[in-house]
Amino acid sequence: MATIVVGVTGGVAAFKAPIVVRECQRAGHDVYVAATRASLEFVGRSTWEGITSRPVAVEIAGEGRAEHVELARVADLIIIVPATANTLARLASGFADDMVSLTVLASDAPVVVAPAMHSNMWLAPATQANVATLRGRGVHVIDPASGALGSGDSGIGRLPEPEEIARRALEVLARAEKADSAPILDGRTVVVTAGGTREPIDPVRFLGNKSSGRQGLAIAAAAARSGATVRLIAANIDDSVMTLLPPSVEVTRVGSALDMREATMAQVVGADALVMTAAVADFRPQSAQASKMKKDPARSDAPVLHLVRNPDILFEVGHSNIRPPLVIGFAAETGTDEEILAYGADKAARKGVDFICLNRVGATVGFGDVPNDIRLLDASGRVVGRYTGSKDEVAAGLADQIAAFLDSLER
Ligand code: C5P
Repeated sequence: MATIVVGVTGGVAAFKAPIVVRECQRAGHDVYVAATRASLEFVGRSTWEGITSRPVAVEIAGEGRAEHVELARVADLIIIVPATANTLARLASGFADDMVSLTVLASDAPVVVAPAMHSNMWLAPATQANVATLRGRGVHVIDPASGALGSGDSGIGRLPEPEEIARRALEVLARAEKADSAPILDGRTVVVTAGGTREPIDPVRFLGNKSSGRQGLAIAAAAARSGATVRLIAANIDDSVMTLLPPSVEVTRVGSALDMREATMAQVVGADALVMTAAVADFRPQSAQASKMKKDPARSDAPVLHLVRNPDILFEVGHSNIRPPLVIGFAAETGTDEEILAYGADKAARKGVDFICLNRVGATVGFGDVPNDIRLLDASGRVVGRYTGSKDEVAAGLADQIAAFLDSLER
């Protein structure tokens, strides 16, 4: 049994928070509620006191004495539901003048926040920056859903179903409890490739792709947090994204697919696992021009780029004698469910991998600071797992999978 603090802040979605409390209690946990004053306009003290059989923490008790941090001290998990835009800003800035923000600031327990607000507030650059800051600090953010909003408008910003919030929060708790007992990847070496390669056309131009490197970085970070020695091969990842990495991760920066091949072949020697998340260009210009290509004002035609095939790094490692005991590839596909499953199964069979992480991509899904939905296919193309949520949540699920697979090899 764990102690969970549910922090309630002042939005119309607060009426769903009692269900989150009830679900946590039903799972056998002890629940305390901390509420902001504004939230009591939506759900009153008597409701909280009725369902938890204890006072709700609203006023900062015994400031200056240990009492005010008591909730933070006992918490094994903090769930903020709903989290208003105001609360996200306050958490990101480290405020501590109400019981909800104070408890988060004073606690080292995992924190799950479930934002709910009007679409415009959710999409506002300030809110998105606050969410990115919180995620960077390891806070688990459950993205809002789309649908009817309290204002009568509809769009993104709706609180997901409370049962779903409780389920995801309890998964975070279970992972934290497991990580507390022993780092699951202790003594393992994991090589992760991330980002997107750039194939030079001339000194200023390249053929590239939209990969931000976030999913690979999240996997490197999750593996490092789980005790692994992590070697990251990073292709063209923005410095702002690289800051999300724990300092223990060893980084090799590369540019093109050929650079990535060389680095990967060197780094996988002696490793336990290779996770190949990088978007590697399949083709490169036959030869990069030594000087910038100019347009001839007298002509209207355009130069033709001759492309040649790049090596398939995953395939090469997967079929080599330096293949680590575990090799995981990624497949970003577009199409219907049926089509992407078929593409994924084909890759799993061909590339010499143990697993393929299959995800659907499109103009608005898959790339950048957005949630992911990954299906794990084994070498025979069978779906053996599914990870959904933020890229950190997906990464934590994969770190568990890597640990379980490597442990199973020793049994
Ligand atoms: O064939 P496709 O590019 O879809 O396969 C994706 C997987 O193969 C990813 O894991 C990617 O990192 C890897 N790959 C590679 N070398 C290439 C192309 C893809 O290692 N040239």
